[in-house]
Order: sequence, then structure tokens, then C-alpha cells
Amino acid sequence: MLKVWGLMAIVLIVLAGKVSSYDRPGTRKNVVMHPSNDDDHMTPEQVHISLVGSDKMRISWITKDSIIPSVVYGTVSGKYESSADGTSSSYHYLLIYQSGQIHDVVIGPLKPNTVYYYKCGGPDSPQEFNFKTPPSQFPIKFAVSGDLGTTEWTKSTLEHLSKWEHDVFVLPGDLSYANTFQPVWDVFGRLVQPLASQRPWMVTQGNHEIEHIPLLHDQKFTAYNNRWHMPFEESGSTSNLYYSFNVFGVHILMLGSYTNFEPGSDQYQWLENDLKNINRKNTPWLMAVIHAPWYNTNEAHQGEKESVEMKESMETLLYKAPVDLVFAGHVHAYERFNRVYQDKFDKCGPVYINIGDGGNQEGLATKYQDPNPEISLFREASFGHGQLEVVNATHAHWEWQRNDDDVSVQKDSVWLTSLLADSSCKI
Ligand SMILES: *[C@@H]1O[C@H](CO)[C@@H](O)[C@H](O)[C@H]1NC(C)=O
Ligand SMILES: [Fe+2]
Repeated sequence: MLKVWGLMAIVLIVLAGKVSSYDRPGTRKNVVMHPSNDDDHMTPEQVHISLVGSDKMRISWITKDSIIPSVVYGTVSGKYESSADGTSSSYHYLLIYQSGQIHDVVIGPLKPNTVYYYKCGGPDSPQEFNFKTPPSQFPIKFAVSGDLGTTEWTKSTLEHLSKWEHDVFVLPGDLSYANTFQPVWDVFGRLVQPLASQRPWMVTQGNHEIEHIPLLHDQKFTAYNNRWHMPFEESGSTSNLYYSFNVFGVHILMLGSYTNFEPGSDQYQWLENDLKNINRKNTPWLMAVIHAPWYNTNEAHQGEKESVEMKESMETLLYKAPVDLVFAGHVHAYERFNRVYQDKFDKCGPVYINIGDGGNQEGLATKYQDPNPEISLFREASFGHGQLEVVNATHAHWEWQRNDDDVSVQKDSVWLTSLLADSSCKI
């Protein structure tokens, strides 16, 4: 059985080249994580949370057996003055995998910038969790890292970003790298729980979420859509593959690189409509998140349809909005661009940042185009994560932290100003 899976898995070997004085770290092995209590079929595991509207939170978790999907919660540990019920589902993958019961409960209204204590499955559930809601004023702090996987490098990325007091985690696609072997999704859920149960994880899909096997499993995104339910309904989207959300004064477009994006498509129409309804007085910052980067000077993933055609379709929409910042993943490295529109510097264009450096088993993308195009300001093939602090309506501070020998080291940092602050960029 494992052999079959092994054959199906896509193995991508990236040969590390020797460049500059920094010896880039090699790949690290995948972690193994079993359920914390194998015998108890009611014990919640793989707990993660996500924002729903301005004052609610979705709590997701898995149990082996069916339970009534309910969450009790409150602002004092051990005292749960509120409760809410939700829904449960499960899915099959091929003949051999049956997921646990996936529970999904939306709780709220919640107060901003407040710690809530909660239990999944009722007050008798063995473990209490807690999270903090985002504040209702600036500053707002986002941690960002894509292409995570489940390796020892992933672990160190998560450890480093857990030490930074952020409000929301943003993941530009490629979560578990299960590559159709479904138990890896469970490992991923267990690996991220300590963080993802405490802060909202807002994700979009990458190519590794598709998991479509012709004739054998025709449905796409089965595990992703079942396990990582994002608040798409609340933003008028009809698909879990694209949506938008606000964190106080920041509006974030979570776009889908692996669904229809051409002019006239459902996603395109939704995006046009979403952009029309933005009030920049309330949300002075506008960001977009994709998986396959539209700008990329790494040799990896050049010329892919999801980069080239999606950019062709949507770049002008984002430029006219105007979008301040675009995050992408896919390329396993870090790169920051200047403000760009149609391949050239443009002071009213978005800043593009590629941050597919979470630490997955495929390793780093170490080869770059030479000479370095002028629009690319910083690039390095190392694992790490990003920290975006939106300080006020006009200023934000961006920092890239490299996982250097297991210690988080700041390598790139820059002040960004919102396009709202430049009166010559029409809003
Ligand atoms: C916004 O933050 C920047 C950086 O700290 C500061 O220079 C600027 O004065 C702030 N603007 C307002 C309106 O407070
Ligand atoms: Fe990818």
C-alpha cells in the first residue's frame, strides 16, 4: 500500500547550489504526530480557528467519533457563559481513507482584543483552549508564511512566529503537502494546533491542495474544503477557494490561483464586485493574497498558467483598486519587489512579496535569474516567515525573518506607505 502512495507522491528534488557566503540549510525530515490520546474517540484534535465577519470566530476540530458539535466559551478561564452549536462532516478519499468527524462552530459576537477561553464539544471536554481576537484599532499585526508542509523546518518556522505577538496568520497556499496521502492532513492539523487554536489562520489554496487523481478521485480540493472552511459566504463568494475579509482597517482579498480567474469567470466577477464595495475610509489598507506569484525572478515556476494568465486577467483590476500589497507563495524562497505594474516600476502599483518559505519537504528554490531585474529589491532562498505590522492608516512595517541555524534572524525590513497617502495615486 505504501508503495502505491509513494509512486503517486510527487517528489521534487531541488539541488542546492553554492551561492554567496551563506550556506543554505538542507531539507529536514517530516515530523510524525499521532493523536494525543489514541483511545479516546471524543478528544478534540487539530483545533484551528478563523475569522468570520468582524466579530465572530469559526472553531474547527476533529474527533474520531460523532459528537454534538458545540463550543462553550467565555472571557474567564474555566467559566463558559456562552455556547454555540455547529455542523459536522467527514469525507472519503479513495477506498482506504475515511476522515474523522470534522466539526465547525461559529461563535460570537466577540469583543475586540480580548482573550476567550473555550472548549470543543462541551464543558466536560478534557482540554481548554484560548484565543485572542484582533484589536479594533491600529496597530494590526499579521504573520505570513506559505508552503508550510510538516517538516522539522516547518516546526521551527512555527516556533519562531509564535514568539511574535501577532493578531492573524495569513497563509498564501500549500498547507500540508499530503500529496493525496490523507493522513498527512491529520499530521498537519496536529502540528499547527498550538498556534492555529490561538490565532485565526486565514488561508488560500495552493497547487498542493488540489489532490485530484483522474478517474480515481475526480473531485478537487476535497481535504482542503472539508478541513479549512474559510468565511467565503460572508464576502458574497460562492466558493471556499476565494473570499475577502477585514481586520479592522485592512481589507484582504484571498484569491484562488487554482480555480477560474479569467475575465467573466465567477471569481473575476466576485472580485470586481468586492472591490466596488470597499470603503477606503474604513479600510485604508488593501492587500491581496495568491499562490502562484505574478512577479518572480527565481528560476522555479516560471511561465506557469496560474501566474501568467491570472496576472493577465486580474493585474489591472488590482492596480486600479488600488491594492497596496500582494503576497504569493509557491516559490520556496523569499523575494520582495518594488511597486510594480505591467512589469515596470510604478509608484501607484502594489508591492509584491513572495513568501513560500515555510519549510516543506521539497526544499528551497535556490537558482535565480541573472542579472537581477531592477524591480526585484531583495531575494534569498531560505526558510522563514514575514511580520507585517500595520501601524496606522498610512504606515506599515514589514520584516522578513530567516530560520538561520534554528534562530530567527531579521534579514529584510522596510517601511511601506499606503497608496492612500499618495494623493497622486487616485483612490
Ligand atoms: C503613522 O505612523 C508613522 C510611523 O510610525 C508616523 O511617522 C506617522 O506620523 C503616523 N501617522 C499618524 C497620522 O499618526
Ligand atoms: Fe505551490
